Amino acid sequence: MSFPYPVGHRVPLYLAPMAGVSESPFRRLCRAFGADVVVTEFLSAEGIRRENAATIAKLRFGADERPIGVQIFGADPAAMGEAAALVTEVFEPEFIDINFGCPVKKVVKRNGGSGCLKDLGLVQAVIRAVAAHTHLPVTVKIRSGWSEEMRDPVTIALRCQDAGARALTLHPRTRAQMYSGAARWDEIAAVAQALEIPVIGNGDIKTAADALRMWQATGCAGVMIARGSFGQPWVFGQARALLEGTPMPPAPPVAERFAIALRHARMAADYEPDRRGAAIEFRKHLGWYAKGLPGSATLRQRLHAVESLDEVEGIFGDYLAHAERYAAAERAADDADDRGAGASLAGSAAGDGSLSGGALVAAGHAGA
Ligand SMILES: Cc1cc2nc3c(=O)[nH]c(=O)nc-3n(C[C@H](O)[C@H](O)[C@H](O)COP(=O)(O)O)c2cc1C
Repeated sequence: MSFPYPVGHRVPLYLAPMAGVSESPFRRLCRAFGADVVVTEFLSAEGIRRENAATIAKLRFGADERPIGVQIFGADPAAMGEAAALVTEVFEPEFIDINFGCPVKKVVKRNGGSGCLKDLGLVQAVIRAVAAHTHLPVTVKIRSGWSEEMRDPVTIALRCQDAGARALTLHPRTRAQMYSGAARWDEIAAVAQALEIPVIGNGDIKTAADALRMWQATGCAGVMIARGSFGQPWVFGQARALLEGTPMPPAPPVAERFAIALRHARMAADYEPDRRGAAIEFRKHLGWYAKGLPGSATLRQRLHAVESLDEVEGIFGDYLAHAERYAAAERAADDADDRGAGASLAGSAAGDGSLSGGALVAAGHAGA
């Protein structure tokens, strides 16, 4: 069982396809930090075949992102075939991945994404149409089924393999679950056991140790990380170390974490010509990089208000110079909240207001 495209390691680590997140700058960063394979966010076959400018822009990638898969979605086999042909001819990624997992209403109502899972004949027709229009390997990403009643990942996966899929990623939740409940790794193990093609496990990997645990528990051929990469692209290097049986490098200290965030911000600024748009889009990443730091509430508040990526360095510098003040402000805000809760309890008896304004003043002071 080998991968149908070159992968750097015996157990490759994947950056998951994620709309609005696994864009070129983040893909490049994750590759630099040890992701072996990256995948674009899902792109509509209709948008590709009509050469919609926004869709085509998202197909751009650099040589340093390879090996890369372009993920497409749609329920019309002819349109999917046409899109695959265009992607192959113009962009030539290492593989084309078909999305059978997206749970979003707008997509599934036209039977796209996980909507296809209601009709396995359609799933197979889509895979065959795509495979017929490209010389590249065609892979699929599935959920465990449409609903709990229709949950049957092994049957779905076998049908995909039978139709010509050359590798398969399983996110073991149903569409009905969206992102709730635990991903059922036992289903990854069952699918990996049943298939001849490589099975990539996905779901609930929050740390490098989780990646190792998934591989050990399921026997999957590769491990795909989605939300666990948010604000910590170094998770790939850590996971690689654990898979190789070498000591895991620690998470970088705060100053280095900020330097990585700035590197990412500069890549995003270079990639996106609209400077303000780039900053607004990047706010979520900034929030993720700041998550968990002492006093991060105030820090994140400031980062979530940036209008230009040029502001970020100054905010980080201020935090590093005054980290204790940020933490103190957070404690003051918490205390004020506690007092506010106490006061509003007392106040509700007295018909009085709360003290939450104090918390705002404290936070604002620290942010200055
Ligand atoms: C913001 C976001 C966007 C996503 N977009 C896509 C997508 O475009 N294509 C896809 O196949 N899955 C998409 N997913 C699902 C992830 O690839 C992954 O299957 C899911 O998050 C479970 O993995 P995790 O528990 O490691 O996050 C998305 C998930 C998130 C959180």
